[in-house]
Amino acid sequence: MASHITVAPCAPSAYRSIIPQLAMLLKSCVDDNITMNFVQPFSIEDASKFWLSMEENIIKGKQFVIIAQEDSTDSDGVPIVLGCVILNLSQTPNAGHRGEVGKMIVGKEHRKRGIGKILMDCMEEVSRKNNRTVLVLDTQTGSGAEIFYERMGYNKVGVLPDVTLSPDRKQYTSCTFFIKKL
Ligand SMILES: CC(C)(COP(=O)(O)OP(=O)(O)OC[C@H]1O[C@@H](n2cnc3c(N)ncnc32)[C@H](O)[C@@H]1OP(=O)(O)O)[C@@H](O)C(=O)NCCC(=O)NCCS
Repeated sequence: MASHITVAPCAPSAYRSIIPQLAMLLKSCVDDNITMNFVQPFSIEDASKFWLSMEENIIKGKQFVIIAQEDSTDSDGVPIVLGCVILNLSQTPNAGHRGEVGKMIVGKEHRKRGIGKILMDCMEEVSRKNNRTVLVLDTQTGSGAEIFYERMGYNKVGVLPDVTLSPDRKQYTSCTFFIKKL
């Protein structure tokens, strides 16, 4: 793993400044035809809108965006974001112990260096601190992410066949659901 990387939940006060970088990470996945809830056409503005829509919940502590950042900064003095993952604290009265994980993304040029793992480790620490002891997530069946989540100790619970449209709109794809008890 590269040195000089910090991984932590983004502070609400810093969130807006990293939205352009989060938007680029998300758009790059959709452009690579990775299932992320979106389909083409998908612009950088669409991606920014998605991240901005989470801001209120982040301020309220209902959602966290865990980010891996390089210690160096860009020309605007904003630390360079290498990857991210969302932890959503379920809000229904019967699911106060559950967290939902999503948008686990490591920038293409930084993959396979252990950054995904340290993001998941940090996300799980945040979950425990918030008394969330059951984590659920889903990913595209047959993707590399499926293997990644298995490596991270998540248990496959099943597949929903053909439930999503691929970003390029060319085919239906299946979703594999995972669970981990902390
Ligand atoms: C999936 C993803 C987050 C993994 O991040 P990463 O930083 O490359 O993962 P790490 O380097 O921490 O790898 C951790 C382990 O998972 C394995 N792994 C990671 N990506 C893998 C892949 N594509 N295929 C097989 N194994 C993989 C690694 O080999 C490593 O295993 P090890 O502990 O036995 O050595 C990254 O590939 C990514 O951003 N993909 C595109 C977005 C995506 O698909 N996200 C999931 C959507 S739900």
